Amino acid sequence: MAKLVRFSIALEDKLLAKFDRYAKSKKYQNRSDAIRALIRGELVKSEWRSGREVAGAIVLVYDHHRRELVNKLTDMQHDFHGMVISNQHVHLDHHNCLETIVVKGNPKKIEELADKLKSIKGVKYGALTAATTAKELP
Ligand code: NI
Repeated sequence: MAKLVRFSIALEDKLLAKFDRYAKSKKYQNRSDAIRALIRGELVKSEWRSGREVAGAIVLVYDHHRRELVNKLTDMQHDFHGMVISNQHVHLDHHNCLETIVVKGNPKKIEELADKLKSIKGVKYGALTAATTAKELP
């Protein structure tokens, strides 16, 4: 277990009031939890900018009746095979599929793959969640 260190922060009262409303709306138990999450979020953003190895998930929703689309999605994932860790396909209904592609690797390459997948004609929704390998995140 990591050692906890206490420190104080000076903030303008209005900024603190706004932060407390934010933390409450996000269901944080206390200010420490809210600040910890914000710090970690910024460190992960910094990892993505630094070019170090990161992890993430690409979510796509598409109509599987468009066969050429399904082939393109598969081809593209093969082109980036070193980065794709896993792929989960869920049949949402008769027409629509939701696919979650878990990726790990260089941030720019992950963004490139996500952009290519999202821009395939027929993809109804696409999003990249930028996560972390947590190797350097306490
Ligand atoms: Ni399906």
